[in-house]
Amino acid sequence: MRISVIGCGYLGAVHAASMAHLGHEVVGVDVEERKVEMLRDGKAPFYEPGLPELLTSTRETGRLSFTTDIADVAGARVHFVCVGTPQKRGENAADLRYVDAAIEGLLPHLAPGDLVVGKSTVPVGTAERIAERVAEVEPEATVVWNPEFLREGFAVKDTLHPDRIVYGIQEGEAGERAAGILDEVYAAPLSEGTPQVITDFATAQLVKVAANSFLATKISFINAMAELCEATGADVTKLADAIGHDDRIGRRFLNAGLGFGGGCLPKDIRAFMARAGELGADQALSFLREVDAINMRRRVRMVDLAREVCEGSIVGRRIAVLGAAFKPDSDDVRDSPALSVAAQMRLQGARVVVTDPQAVANAEKAWPDLDFAATAEEAAAGADVVILATEWAEYRELDPEAFGRLVGHRRIVDGRNVLDPAQWRAAGWVYRALGRP
Ligand code: UDX
Repeated sequence: MRISVIGCGYLGAVHAASMAHLGHEVVGVDVEERKVEMLRDGKAPFYEPGLPELLTSTRETGRLSFTTDIADVAGARVHFVCVGTPQKRGENAADLRYVDAAIEGLLPHLAPGDLVVGKSTVPVGTAERIAERVAEVEPEATVVWNPEFLREGFAVKDTLHPDRIVYGIQEGEAGERAAGILDEVYAAPLSEGTPQVITDFATAQLVKVAANSFLATKISFINAMAELCEATGADVTKLADAIGHDDRIGRRFLNAGLGFGGGCLPKDIRAFMARAGELGADQALSFLREVDAINMRRRVRMVDLAREVCEGSIVGRRIAVLGAAFKPDSDDVRDSPALSVAAQMRLQGARVVVTDPQAVANAEKAWPDLDFAATAEEAAAGADVVILATEWAEYRELDPEAFGRLVGHRRIVDGRNVLDPAQWRAAGWVYRALGRP
């Protein structure tokens, strides 16, 4: 099948390479020349395990190409829209300018029978609007809404072996034909044994934001429990283990700590609230305001903990922050809790040095005022306190004794509850964590 993928960011680049891997002929389109050049060279423009290998292997087949010229999509029969929908500046709502530009760019090149497949996370109602616009220009093209659930760090695996496949189609023959074509695109092994949900546009769009809202709520729930644990001397990690044994609750996504960040969960719950307001249903999602607030409070608490271990003041203190990415196995620093905490501490007069195995370059661009080091050892040299902000494997495995020889004071705040308090305390560290005594 000949396919185009419009937008080659975290979602589109992985989607394009994965579709080529399945045997399709794929052209990826992006407005950023640099990104397109890297992808053409078989290089991933961001850190994503497995993506470079996929790009190189598919490049050799000749089935995968990249371009900045949208006209190159002509000839493809299925067009995936994978552009970003960031939060609008100063507002909660999603900014749809990239989606609209992608559709407008695509319209002149659509042919009868083509499929426009929306994968971007959008406010409910967008698919309907796009379908109307497409019908004005090419009435014989069909729009399908096919949300994407990939996690950064597992994007290749999640794309090639999804948990579920969701199609939102409009009633009638065209919608059913479109579902049939998408089935051919997502042929076995991708679809083998994968549950499929075929539904209407509105449901398909809501599935994505509902899933992300649930995940965000689960994280904020356990972080609210962490606040209670802090008030009572209880241990949130044990509490999570205990409630997680109940299958109905489940232990995954119950890791208390600095909370959620990234390019999806924070902006998606905010855009969902904004959209609910427009629909007159804001009360239904008012709990998400609390989910957001609990999440942001963890960052403040983290700075307070740093102050507590520094005997009341961080002014002039040397603070090593381990982690800049919003989560491990990613170089994405969008709405990163780690950098938000680092910036707050700097603002309050601390001498902060941030390090990360993959995200330093992106972090430097986003926060030019912060100081960075290439390694944890360098960041920790002479530090008054160490903050573990992103739980990269190499930080979880630090040896408290050897690492302790580098710092000025053996004090650590574990923002992700991943270190063994007994082991660190035995090596003479003052160990503090969010939600643990
Ligand atoms: C998320 C969804 O998981 C994915 O399905 C969707 O398609 C896009 O948004 P992603 O943003 O890649 O994916 O990251 P995810 O692994 O969900 O983590 C989000 C944030 O939550 C991270 O900052 C992570 O550190 C934090 N988190 C996660 C916790 O604080 N505790 C947890 O238990 C789990």
